[in-house]
Amino acid sequence: MPSTTFRVFRYQPDQGDPQPYHEDFNLEHDDKITLLDAILRLRNEQDGSLAVRYSCRSAICGSCACRADGRTVLACMEQVESLKERNGNGHVQVDPIGNFKPIKDLVVDLRPFWEKFKSVKPFLVPDGAAPQKERLVSKEAMQKIYNESKCILCAACYSECNSLAADPDFVGPAAFAWGFRFAADERDGQRRNRVKLYSGDHGVWDCTRCMFCNERCPKGVDPRDAIEKLGSIAFQEGVTRDKGARHAKAFLISMRTGGKLNETLLVPYTDPIGAPLDTPFALQMLRKGKAPSPLPHKIKQLDEVKKLMKNVKETI
Ligand code: SF4
Ligand code: FES
Repeated sequence: MPSTTFRVFRYQPDQGDPQPYHEDFNLEHDDKITLLDAILRLRNEQDGSLAVRYSCRSAICGSCACRADGRTVLACMEQVESLKERNGNGHVQVDPIGNFKPIKDLVVDLRPFWEKFKSVKPFLVPDGAAPQKERLVSKEAMQKIYNESKCILCAACYSECNSLAADPDFVGPAAFAWGFRFAADERDGQRRNRVKLYSGDHGVWDCTRCMFCNERCPKGVDPRDAIEKLGSIAFQEGVTRDKGARHAKAFLISMRTGGKLNETLLVPYTDPIGAPLDTPFALQMLRKGKAPSPLPHKIKQLDEVKKLMKNVKETI
């Protein structure tokens, strides 16, 4: 029977533990035990005060998300032996999910997550009077939002989000996945208002594209892709005044006109008001020979680039 040391995050401020620490527990278990079942056995057999959230034990409710050896997982979906195989040693470190304030051991304060979820208006707001019976929608139309509809609000993506680590007010990947789910629903009448709401400070354009949300989402929701699609909808709806949208547009203009990125255009186009403040920095770069040429440049195969851009536009 395998035996594992679990290095568990402990924090019980109400019990006189003002500082968090890690406590080691050893457990003999069968080789198919899940991380959640192992934690529950530790609680039942070794320390009844160990706090953990869970409910369905079947990767449905989303409440058991935690960090195993630094990666956010659903504890009921991971086998202990697979975790050990991955980390190559005999122990598993268990921590609460990231970007949240721990309350007690593995339990965190989820309030900011729910506030942000509510802030994207995660419900249908159809236009016009309600129909007599129902609003029918085709299978093909539902397919467009199928991925995002799979979200179980486990907050694994939120835990891994680098933008949130830098800006705790960033709305976050899960909320935006829900935002897209409704913005792209053909029964919704708030498409433009939604992308306006999701742009601006702490909005979709603040995503750093680290892709960890896509990588760690246990349900294959791909929230980063949803954020990208919200960006496209913002363009389609003409909601492009945000700095992030302007930055993306500067890329498009450079590609269309020169076939490659024109860095000199990037800063003034993204932030025409703030750009002059960067002049001393730009001059310094120029002196060191690190500034790109301010003259417009065109690559020889510009037609090829234009064809590629047309293909991409038609595909998405
Ligand atoms: Fe969890 Fe994925 Fe939804 Fe994020 S997008 S809350 S990781 S199911
Ligand atoms: Fe419900 Fe793990 S206990 S998802």
